[in-house]
Amino acid sequence: MFKVTIDNQQVDVEEGTTILQAARMIGGKVVPPAMCYYSKLRGSGGKCRTCLVKVAQSSAKDPRPMPKLVASCSTPVQDGMVVQNLTSPEVVEARKAIVEFLLLNHPLDCPVCDQAGECDLQDLSFRYGMEETGSEEDRREFPVTDIGDKIKLHMNRCILCYRCVYTADQLTDKRLHGVLYRGDVSEIGTFIQQAVTNNFSGNMIDVCPVGALTDKTFRFKSRVWFLNPMNAHRDCPSCSGNVTAWMFGNEIYRVTGRKNQYGELEEFICNECRFEKKDPGDWVIEGPRHIKRQSVISANHYERMKKQSVIKPIEGIMEDPE
Ligand code: SF4
Ligand code: FES
Repeated sequence: MFKVTIDNQQVDVEEGTTILQAARMIGGKVVPPAMCYYSKLRGSGGKCRTCLVKVAQSSAKDPRPMPKLVASCSTPVQDGMVVQNLTSPEVVEARKAIVEFLLLNHPLDCPVCDQAGECDLQDLSFRYGMEETGSEEDRREFPVTDIGDKIKLHMNRCILCYRCVYTADQLTDKRLHGVLYRGDVSEIGTFIQQAVTNNFSGNMIDVCPVGALTDKTFRFKSRVWFLNPMNAHRDCPSCSGNVTAWMFGNEIYRVTGRKNQYGELEEFICNECRFEKKDPGDWVIEGPRHIKRQSVISANHYERMKKQSVIKPIEGIMEDPE
């Protein structure tokens, strides 16, 4: 086992663990943000640089610091390594610069974007964004396209994290979309519109950290903070059938996979569950999902009813018969 210290907290990890994975084992504020790394997708990470950290001591044998900030999602730990995340002003400054860089081309259209309220870039900008940009150039602009009968692509919002490409590669039989061209003209595309139809292609929507890929069956139906995310399941022949049903009253507005505290899917779900099953009768509703208090989705979201026994009856008022 290797001993690693991140922001003054120590953890023992196995050889081959990355700094980001070690930080996730500690949890809390020690964990750097990640816009392209996705633990369930092979090869992901190393594209966005939001996870940069400072290695103040390379290892017990070599106490020298690493000369530059490193991507924590793709740097393996060494025994005795000392890492700084939020304890390094250099890292915080670099993260601000990365957010500014990601926003060079990403439009500030949160008020009309379906991802608002659950967008990693929106959260990151809230924490590290600057009020003004130093850029004078116009942002890149692309037409909005359909890459499948149920998936809309807003290329203007894409940060080229490659998560959707890895999802299509590793989850579906044939990948029909990818990153076309290179450099500042690169874009996600299919060449043939409506081409993406595979039964697991909807997972690309869930892995997209921004609002570049959206669910056409839910677009503009509601803001996510007006909905109640509920754990639900059904007997599905293609996937586990464990989903999050986003409900308004007794109606299901959309169905997504269940995400963990790092915004990653616990399990990938099929398109039939995601797009075709919007009738509450299709599902066994288990109960409300836990939502972080800081999230805008937690507004009006109640996870537990107060137990009847702790509410004292007012004297003189008859209790309801069962
Ligand atoms: S469409 Fe979304 S998931 Fe795909 S590369 Fe762009 S930002 Fe990443
Ligand atoms: S999460 Fe590490 S570079 Fe993107």
